[in-house]
Amino acid sequence: MPDRSSAVLVTGATGGIGRQVVTGLADAGEPVRALCRRQQQVDDVRDRGVDAVLGDLGDPASLRAAVEGADRLFLLTFPGASQRQHGRNAVEAALAAGVQRVVHLSTADANPASAIPWASAPACTDALLQASPVAWTLLRPAAFVQNFLESAAGIRRGVLPQTSGRGVTGWIDTADIAAVAVRVLVEGGHEGRTHVLTGPELLSLPAVADQLSAVLGRRVRSVRLPSPLFYALLRATGDDAFTAAGLRHQFRDVVRHGRDDGDVFTETVRAITGRAPRSFAEFVEENRQAFTTG
Ligand SMILES: NC(=O)c1ccc[n+]([C@@H]2O[C@H](COP(=O)([O-])OP(=O)(O)OC[C@H]3O[C@@H](n4cnc5c(N)ncnc54)[C@H](OP(=O)(O)O)[C@@H]3O)[C@@H](O)[C@H]2O)c1
Repeated sequence: MPDRSSAVLVTGATGGIGRQVVTGLADAGEPVRALCRRQQQVDDVRDRGVDAVLGDLGDPASLRAAVEGADRLFLLTFPGASQRQHGRNAVEAALAAGVQRVVHLSTADANPASAIPWASAPACTDALLQASPVAWTLLRPAAFVQNFLESAAGIRRGVLPQTSGRGVTGWIDTADIAAVAVRVLVEGGHEGRTHVLTGPELLSLPAVADQLSAVLGRRVRSVRLPSPLFYALLRATGDDAFTAAGLRHQFRDVVRHGRDDGDVFTETVRAITGRAPRSFAEFVEENRQAFTTG
C-alpha cells in the first residue's frame, strides 16, 4: 500500500504539465498521487510505480476522497465552461481535508474581469486561495510554445495566421513550468508568492515565423488577419465557438495591446530551477518532424 500520510495530489496529471509534474515529484522521491478520470489512466500510472486515484474536478465527493491524507495539492484546471467551479471544488476539498499547501497553475493574464474564460476562471481560483487560510503559491505562466503544435498544419504549408500584429509574448515550454512546480512543491519557501513565468525571450508572431523559417530551413510567413477572419479560420479548422472566441480576445486584446501583463518578461524560471528556460528554437528543433511532415 502506498504511504498516504503525506503526499502531493496532482490534478491534470495525465496532461502536458501534470504528467511532467508527477514524474518530477516521483524522481525527487516525493510521495505523489495522480488524479485521473478513467480507470485505464489509474492503471497506467500505477504501472509506472506511482499512486493514482480516480476522480473528477466536477465531482466534489471524488475530490474529497482523492485528497484525503495529502498535505499538498498541485491544482490545474482545464479550460471550459466549468473551470471556475472546478477550481472552487478543489479548493474546498483541500481545505476540508486539511491540506497545508496549494500550488495553483494560473496564467500570466489572469484577471477576474477578463473576456477570456481561461484568464478569468483561474483568477477567481487565485482569489479564493488568497482569501483562504491555506499556504498558497500561484504560478502564472505565459503562453506555451506547445500551442504551436496546434498550428503545425499551416506551418507545414509555410503559413502562420495571426491577429496580434507585433504584440509580444514570453512563450514558455511546459517542461519549464513543470520544473518550477516541482521545485516549489518540494522545497517550500514560496508560500504567499505569485510567480510569473516566461521563456527566455519576448517574441511577436512575425518573430516566431522568422525563427520557424531559420530552424526549419524554409520560409514560414506570418499572415496578419483581421480578428473576425481569424475567428472564422479557427472555427473552420476545428476549434469550438468557446475556444475560438477566447483565442480571438486573447490575441487581439491581450497580446496585440499588451494588456493584462500579456507582454511581461521574467527571469523566474532560472531563479527557481537554476537553469535557463528552454528557447523557442530548441522547441522547434525537437518538433521538426511535426512542422515538416504529416
Ligand atoms: N496553453 C497555454 O498557452 C496556457 C497558458 C497559460 C496557462 N495555461 C493553463 O494551463 C492549463 C492546461 O495545462 P496542460 O496544457 O497541461 O493541459 P492538458 O495537456 O490539456 O491536460 C488537461 C488535463 O486536465 C485533465 N482534466 C480535464 N478535465 C478534467 C476534469 N473534469 N477533472 C479532472 N481532470 C480533468 C485532463 O484529463 P484527461 O486526460 O482525462 O482528459 C488532463 O490531465 C490550463 O489551466 C490553462 O488555462 C495554458
